[in-house]
Amino acid sequence: MDFSTKTIHAGQPAESTTGAVVSPIFQTTTYQQIGPGEHRGFDYSRTSNPTRQRLEAVLAELEGASHGALFGSGLAAENAVLQAYLKPGRAIVVPEDVYGGTFRMLHQVFEPIGCKVTSVDFGDLAAVSRAITPETSLVWLESPTNPRLLVYDIAAVSAVAHAKGALVVVDNTFATPYFQQPFDLGADLVLHSVTKYLAGHSDLIQGAVIARDAAIFEPVKFLQNALGGIPGPFDCWLTLRGLKTLELRMDRHAENAIRVAEALSAHARVKRVYFPGLPSHPGHDIALRQMTGFGGMVSFELDGTVEEACAFTASLKYFALGESLGGVRALVCLPCRMTHASIPAETRHALGLSDTLIRLSPGCESSRDLVRDLVEGLDRLGAAKIETQTPIAIGQ
Ligand SMILES: Cc1ncc(COP(=O)(O)O)c(C=O)c1O
Repeated sequence: MDFSTKTIHAGQPAESTTGAVVSPIFQTTTYQQIGPGEHRGFDYSRTSNPTRQRLEAVLAELEGASHGALFGSGLAAENAVLQAYLKPGRAIVVPEDVYGGTFRMLHQVFEPIGCKVTSVDFGDLAAVSRAITPETSLVWLESPTNPRLLVYDIAAVSAVAHAKGALVVVDNTFATPYFQQPFDLGADLVLHSVTKYLAGHSDLIQGAVIARDAAIFEPVKFLQNALGGIPGPFDCWLTLRGLKTLELRMDRHAENAIRVAEALSAHARVKRVYFPGLPSHPGHDIALRQMTGFGGMVSFELDGTVEEACAFTASLKYFALGESLGGVRALVCLPCRMTHASIPAETRHALGLSDTLIRLSPGCESSRDLVRDLVEGLDRLGAAKIETQTPIAIGQ
């Protein structure tokens, strides 16, 4: 089955009683049993729900795997993986620019109970290898990263981690299974903020954990029920509906991202564009190897002040100023004041996150409208201010 066929058919049989071709929303808490302890595969909706089960099946198939567990948010999914594998006394290795919510959970929830968190530059494989100790149970990475869209070599990192006995978790939120198949590159667990491209319409919060290996998946599945952080059937139904257009949407997002990256690269008020599709991007060659498209996100550094960056982001017509990404409607974000505001300025700057770095999530609008919106916004800022220099008098 090809990818787009899977999004529409995998795990979604016609409903057996009526033949309804769209999965019903099984909005039920419990299920009538035939006799005490004798049921039809469902006994309580925290444990299992037919709408959720359909979505878990299709997500697993899209990643080329067989096991999926859904959660009420991407962070709830991360929590289940960490509770399963990062016990007190154990260690995790993460990239320096790991998603801020993951950073907060690791340092404020797991470190205080005795887990060790080591951050390294995942572009440096020797450093990753050195960071993995006998206590390391997990090596965790995102690719592309947020917001600079750095690309890490998943196959190489997996080989290094496996050689030292650690499991590899890949957060595939930015790439989606359409553009990147982490299990084929060595991942043991794949994680998603379903909130973003998978659901695709900025109308829900949801997360997923997917595995190929039943034994690796089992502790996460246990915790889905034991911790109880599940999504409701209606949200699962919305994601099932959104997923059916994943391929169409991702093709449009990716095409729009290319057009936006090209236009920004040509503008005088743009200092630098971060997009894996640009040959100048440091991760371009790896992206060509491990992805089938460059994704839908573009970031850029404005040549100007933070005040100008604020004015620009608030002035756009089609890019709504807001957190999140991956929806059909375009979004713009100023990380230093929004998603990354909680990271101290010195740390942000050390990570290369300048205060005029702007993150764009081009939606499925027309690329002409999106590009015009950005170019007009940049033009409104006028020419860049030239640093005034006091001329040195001759003879001084
Ligand atoms: C890469 C990545 N992983 C995980 C998350 C957390 O997902 P959620 O917001 O659904 O909890 C996010 C949210 O922005 C994210 O960007």
